[in-house]
Parts: sequence; C-alpha cells; structure tokens
Amino acid sequence: MKTACVILAAGLGTRMKSGVPKVLHRICGAPMLQCVIKAAEKTGPEKIVVVAGMHLDRIKEAVGAEGIAFALQDKPLGTGHALRAAVHVLRGFRGDLLVINGDTPLIRPATLKKLLSLHKRHRNDVSFLSFIAGSPEGYGRVIRDKHGKTLAVVEEKDADQGQKSIREVNSGVYVISSRAVHLLDKIPVNPVKGEYYLTDIVSMAARGGFRTSAFCIGEEDEFMGINTTSELARAQAVMRRSIVDSFTEDGVLFIDPDSVYIDLGVSIEAGAVIYPNVYLEGGTRVGRGSVIYPNARIKDGTIGREVTIKDSSVIENSSVKDNASIGPFAHIRPGCLVGAFARVGNFVELKKTVLGKSSKASHLSYLGDAVIGKDVNIGAGTITCNYDGRNKHLTVIEDGVFIGSDTQLVAPVKVSKGSYVGAGSTITKDVPRGSLAISRVHQKNVEGWAKRKKR
Ligand code: UD1
Ligand code: CA
Repeated sequence: MKTACVILAAGLGTRMKSGVPKVLHRICGAPMLQCVIKAAEKTGPEKIVVVAGMHLDRIKEAVGAEGIAFALQDKPLGTGHALRAAVHVLRGFRGDLLVINGDTPLIRPATLKKLLSLHKRHRNDVSFLSFIAGSPEGYGRVIRDKHGKTLAVVEEKDADQGQKSIREVNSGVYVISSRAVHLLDKIPVNPVKGEYYLTDIVSMAARGGFRTSAFCIGEEDEFMGINTTSELARAQAVMRRSIVDSFTEDGVLFIDPDSVYIDLGVSIEAGAVIYPNVYLEGGTRVGRGSVIYPNARIKDGTIGREVTIKDSSVIENSSVKDNASIGPFAHIRPGCLVGAFARVGNFVELKKTVLGKSSKASHLSYLGDAVIGKDVNIGAGTITCNYDGRNKHLTVIEDGVFIGSDTQLVAPVKVSKGSYVGAGSTITKDVPRGSLAISRVHQKNVEGWAKRKKR
C-alpha cells in the first residue's frame, strides 16, 4: 500500500506569543517542522504535503525542498479543515495517509513506521498513536468502551470532569486509509471553538463501522506537542540530552553531559572531549581527538583532528585544521582557515584570514582580510589596518616572515618571504623578500630629566 504524508503546520501558534510561525521555532538549531519532515521522509512516503496558512511563504522558504509539496489552508479553521486542504492537493491519491501535527518535533521515524505497520496488520481504516501523559492537560483524551475499543477523542475544552481525568491522550499522529478520507467532509464545526477538529474523524469512523483504533505505544517524551515556549524549552532539553547520549555511544567524552548544547546538524568523531558549557551549532564538525574546553561556541565550524579549542573562544563559519590550537579567548570570525599545527592565542581576532601551517599569532592581535603563509610569527599586538573607511584591503604575509610586536600593517600591503618587521613598526609599503622593515622614531635618552622635573 502506498503512503502519503501530510504535516499540519497552518495553526497560528498564538500560545507561543511571538511573531514567528510556531512550527518555525527552533529546537536544537532546526525549525521544529524540519524535524517532523525529516522523520516523515524516513518512512519513505510517495509524497509529503505540508499544510501552511498565512505564513506559507516563510515556511516554504525555511523548509522547502525537492519532493515536498505545500497546501494552503486559507483560514485556520482547525486540524480537520487543514487536512482537507492537503487532500485537495493529493487529489486522486489511493493509499494510506500518514498525518502528523507539525508541532511534535521529537517524533521518531521508527514510531511512525510502527504505526503504519500496525495500521496494515489490523486492516484499519483510521489509526492513531496515543500515549499515557503524566499530566494530560491540553491534549485530546482517548475514550474507549469497557472492552478497550476506541470510540472517540474528546478535546480538553469539550471534556467533562470524568473524561478530563483520562490520561491516555491523542499524540496527533494518524493513519487514514483512502476509503475513510471522505469522512473529513462530514466533520461538523465544533461549537466551542468554531473549528473543524480532525479528531472528530475517530468517533465518526467508529460509529460508521470503520475499523478504528488508538495504539498506545512509545514514550511521552517523544509525543510532546509544542504549544508554548515553556513546552519548547522542555522538549529542547529532551532532544539535547538524546543528541549528547547518541554521541556518547559513539565514543565522544562529555565531562558534564547536562551542560553542553549541540545542534541537530552537528557531527563529532569518536575520541573528542567536550568540556562543560560548550555550544556546537549549525553544521559544525569536530574531528577525532579534538578537545573543546569550557565556554566555547562554534557555529558552522569545521574542526579537524587533535585540535585544541581553549576556554571561551568563538568560532564562526571557519575551518581549523588538524593539531591547531585556538584560544583561550580567541574570536575566529567567518571565512577563516587556520592551518595545521597553527596557534591562535588569547585575545586574537581573525576575520576572512588564512593562517598557514605552523604559523602563530599568540597574543592580542587583529588579523582581518589577510593571507598569511606557513611558519609565520605574528608578534603580540599586531594589527592589520584593513579598512580605510570605505573599502577593505588585503594584507599578504608570505612564508617564514617574522612580524615584531605592536606592528600595524596598513593594507593593501605585502610582506614577502622570509622578511622581518621590527617591533613597533607601521608598515605602509610592500616589504621585499628577505629584508628587515622598520619604521620607528629613533630613541632619545635625556639623562637627568626625571630629577629636573621633580624640582
Ligand atoms: C491537537 C489535537 C489533540 C492532540 C494534540 C497533540 C485536534 C483538534 N486536537 O491539539 O487531540 O492531543 O494535538 O499534540 O486536532 N493546525 C493547522 N490548521 C489549523 C489548526 C492547527 O494546520 O487550523 C496545525 C498546527 O499548526 C499544529 C497542528 O495542526 O501543528 C495541531 O494544532 P494545535 O492547535 O497545536 O492542536 P492542539 O490543541 O495541540
Ligand atoms: Ca499542539
């Protein structure tokens, strides 16, 4: 039987109290809708349709990709109404519809597959996943008869006291076979909220003799529906921990697993050591045996093997090659490449700069728009003056150059291979190969001056 997957993402998300569409709120770096799409993709559906409303363009921009279709729900008239918009796009589809709320980012592909196979095995028309909630508030309660047969889902707002005490709740993941899809058109408008509830299809199917069941499988954590920022924070904590646990299984050592923050798109090789309060964001990659000390934040960084990132360093969209060392307190801004065995020390800022193999900038420097060769020594307090108020200019420092401390390099400027620059120099002209450049006022010692001043 073919499967098509529909993800409902057109709700207004008013309970989030933010201008961002709910399903685009990020969880461990990814929009929550993206997590649901990824899980859906792994079930190998024929098609994926995302239902979006007034934020359709923003949603398309954030998660749009090949193979994903979008359906417009013109007004947010409820989950039943939303699914109808998708059915319209899927016109003519025969098979099973896997329907997932777009606000359940922790859902796992294995659970979706299990539901699909249970649906088939029971030859059901309508199936959905339920779970036992620690506190069921906000979820639709699953109503069963005394034999356990599924009769209905009753929403919180419509539930009486007895129903409210039921802890088996609807997870918002359904499988509906084509032959039951026409029931969607008969869902009545809910008098309390004025919406068409998808959950009403359960009682309609049960009453109409369709094979209907709730499958109570899986863990509560996985089915968390995110309606508020506090629920988002809770779900994020769960996801964060599962990311860390899976890297731990792969041989990454976390000194304190509870205090690291790793995005979904990150990869870390075995043998890496991550100290507390480290943030690895975006598509960051960390190679085998690298050590990342406390308070580092790396966003879209490619960190090679055996690299040391010392305390409180920030690396953005840059690459650090094997055995290099960064920090403490270094700032590697976008577009940098730090070569193998190179060293960037404390209070050094790099921007769009290549620092060649085994070169060192150990203390208090700004290197921007620079191409620095290998075995170069950049003395403390070196500044590339790359900006003239209008344009940025390039500084080139070739292999084996020694830049004395407190040097300013006024770009565009080039210091050729093997040259030396004397400490305290302001370099405004290119330095030819193998020379010494020095631009410093001669020192004058006025003897006895101090004593005379005191008088
Ligand atoms: C829904 C279920 C509830 C279930 C819970 C699980 C209904 C009526 N209730 O409640 O039984 O326990 O999920 O988390 O379905 N959406 C649209 N268009 C709309 C309204 C919503 O696309 O007009 C989308 C939302 O973007 C969201 C999803 O459907 O991703 C669920 O909507 P939401 O308002 O969060 O439903 P809940 O009240 O959580
Ligand atoms: Ca919800």
